[in-house]
Parts: sequence; structure tokens; C-alpha cells
Amino acid sequence: MTEARTGPLRHLVSIDDLSLAEIRTLFERAAEFAADPRAWSHLGRGRISASLFYEPSTRTRLSFESAMLRLGGGVLTAADMKTSSATKGESLADTVRVVEGYADLIVLRHPSEGAARLASQYSAVPVINAGDGSHEHPTQTLCDLYTLWIERGRLEGIDVVLAGDLRYSRTIHSFIYALARFGANIVCVPHHGLELPDYVLQRLREEYGAEPVRADASRLGDLAAQSDAVYITPQKPHQLSLFTEASGLKVEHVDAVYMTRPQTERHTPEETTADYLRLGHATLKADVLRDAVVMHPLPRRDEISQELDADPRSIYFKQAARGVPIRMALLAALLGQIELGDAHPPVGPKLYPAPLANPCANPTCISRTETRHVQPATKLLSRHPLRAACGYCSQELTFGFVGCAEDRVYWPKESGEARRLRPERMVFLRDAPLAEAAGFRAPVTAAVVPPS
Ligand code: NCD
Repeated sequence: MTEARTGPLRHLVSIDDLSLAEIRTLFERAAEFAADPRAWSHLGRGRISASLFYEPSTRTRLSFESAMLRLGGGVLTAADMKTSSATKGESLADTVRVVEGYADLIVLRHPSEGAARLASQYSAVPVINAGDGSHEHPTQTLCDLYTLWIERGRLEGIDVVLAGDLRYSRTIHSFIYALARFGANIVCVPHHGLELPDYVLQRLREEYGAEPVRADASRLGDLAAQSDAVYITPQKPHQLSLFTEASGLKVEHVDAVYMTRPQTERHTPEETTADYLRLGHATLKADVLRDAVVMHPLPRRDEISQELDADPRSIYFKQAARGVPIRMALLAALLGQIELGDAHPPVGPKLYPAPLANPCANPTCISRTETRHVQPATKLLSRHPLRAACGYCSQELTFGFVGCAEDRVYWPKESGEARRLRPERMVFLRDAPLAEAAGFRAPVTAAVVPPS
């Protein structure tokens, strides 16, 4: 149904697909929509969105569908993909190419990291990532940022505590990238063993210049009692008056505490959630939290005690309700009905096809779970040292050697020859035996001719 859309095709795979100016415009439009939600039914008239949900959802799916209906459009729902052709072995790429013929936009939730990127490569209509494994959940982030923007009036310089399962919460990953880009300070209070993944930390450092430093979180009371808190700030540590190398950075004031549930469905058997963090009256008595709002993407289990529901600082149900106007704004924008006003929106990462072998070791990456239609792809992170990430799940690749797809010679990753290869020719190889087994050969070193 491409003819129904005006303007260039845009997807929302990562929160990085929107510029900060565009996110601010979405807030402003969402506020207008929220003021009179029934006044906008002309914006989506004649348009249809399809919800493709391969994982359970209540808020995300229903708020998307409510938003589309408020805009005057229609919705198609495949909420339980167990009743779809996926159970007959249909690939995601094929499903997307069928559904684009039925709808003007696809909202996709899938258990594999990178699924939305794959869908966007095959779809002629906009694809919105409604959660891909533990990777990203950009529209929850829009809802979270919009909530903070309303509650605090700004995002720059605010202090946000992120607590709980920071490893597998996709809401945390998209949120932390956006907070860093807006110049917020972030205090990470992970459940022990469920710290932020390295690839997320690297990206915060390298792409957004946000520096993690040790935090002295003693003033957070029992919230941080069992955790090694980390403070992530857009400023360099030496510029921080409250920072000393020895004790870390003193957490002095908090604007928001964002709690997440343990993502048990993605845990390994070794990852335990006994003594998981729990917010209750006692925790919120800490002076530093006196006017912090309490947020949660929901669903909650026991990590926020029900006794907090009546506390005026608890805003998680308001936060969920705000998912509708912000999604109305996003849908209207991707359907070409409102302008986001940035002449140079982000273009997305430059990906290179990975020839010959899939270098991604993440078993739940879409490049591993759906091999039929995925051409593995990589993103070059740096040449000095040579580092690369999977183009789908963003996880950093582990490799000792790089082969050249043309001449089939492999080089140690530290060598100048490896670094000088064109990215589209690079084949990332874990070790030498694997390189040999894949048909690569070691370089022939020129014999040294002794001087006569
Ligand atoms: C989140 C999700 O699906 O990642 N839920 C949501 O969309 N509001 C959070 C969660 O499941 O913990």
C-alpha cells in the first residue's frame, strides 16, 4: 500500500533513527493530541496499521492500536503469532512482504535481536520496532522521555536512576542512549549480575561521549545497598565537583527512579534474581529521592510495592497512558501526515554485508535465528584497534583474525593489513583453525635474502 504514503519511507528501528529535534517535535505534537484526543481523526483516515506481535504485549500493542484508532485509521492485529503461518515455518521476511500489501505501516515485536532491522530491509511500508529481544524498544523510550519532559520540563542535566535488570531490559537500552544524547546524568543501580551489557557501555562512551564513573550511592539508601552503582555523565569526570577518584561521584539529587522487572524469559540458568531490588516506602524515604518521580515501563512484578501506588511520586500508570498521544504523533509522522521539521534526519548505521560466514555469536540474534533471509551484516566500530559489531543485534564481534573475501588470505586483527582491508571484504574469523577450515590461508611471508 505504498501509494497511500507521502514523503520518504522512514522506519523506527532504533531510538537513534530520530534526531533530538524530531523527538522534541513529537513531544509538542503529543501534548496537542493529549489536550483533545478526539480532534485528530482526520490524520489517519483511510490508513491501516498492522500489529505483528511474536511476543506477549498489553500496553504497547493496545496503545498503538488506540493511537491509530484515535487518528481515524484502522488496525489489523496478529497478536498471537502462534496462530499465524509462522508456525508453518514462514520466515519473518516473507511475512513482512505479505503484510505490507495489507497495511500502510507495520508495528513489530519479536524475540530476536535485530528482527525490526531485518523487517525494515524487506518492507515497503514503515516498520516500527515494538521490542526486539533484549535489544531496543524505541517507542517505550519516546513514552518515557515524553513523561520526563512533562514532569521535569527538560531533559538536559536531569539525574535519572535506572534500576533492576539492566542487562536484558530493552527499554533500558533505548532509554539510556536517548538520555545520554539529551545530556542527562544516569545512575545505574543494577541487580547483581544484570549490569549493562558491554556493547551498550561502549556505545555510550564512543558515540555519545558519556563517561561511566564509579558512584558513591550511599545517599540512595537501601536502593543501592547491594549494588555497585555506576554514574554515567556527559561531562568528563575531572569537571565534576562532586567527584573524587577514591570515593566516586556523590549522588546528590535524583529527578526520577526508573525501575525494571527481571526479564526472566531471557535469563540463563545461572542468572538468579533472588533478592531482586524492591522499591517501597522505606526506600523512598531517602532524602535524595524526596522529589524523584517513580517510573516503570510495566508490567511490574514485586519490584515496586503496591504501597507506593498512592504516593504522588508514583507516575507509572500516567506514564503508560502517555503512550497513546506520543504514539499518535509517531504514527502521524511516519504516515507522512505531520512534519518533524528536521531537514537532515539520521540516516542509520552504515552496514556491510558479511561474506562467507556469520561472525555474530549471539544465539538470539535474528542473523542466527532466521538464516534463510538474513545476509549477515557488520558495522565497523573502529580501525585502531580493529573492532566491529553485528549489524542486527549490535553486539561486538569477537575475532582474532580478519580474512580478505577476495584473495582468501587471513591476517591477525592487530596487523596493518587487516586494518587496511575494505570493510565489505572483511571476514571476521575467531581463530586460525577456523580460518583454515573456512578455506583461508595464512599470508606467505617473503623470504629474507641475506646480503651478499
Ligand atoms: C516492556 C517490554 O516489553 O520490554 N514492556 C512494555 O513494552 N511496556 C518491559 C517489560 O516487559 O519488562
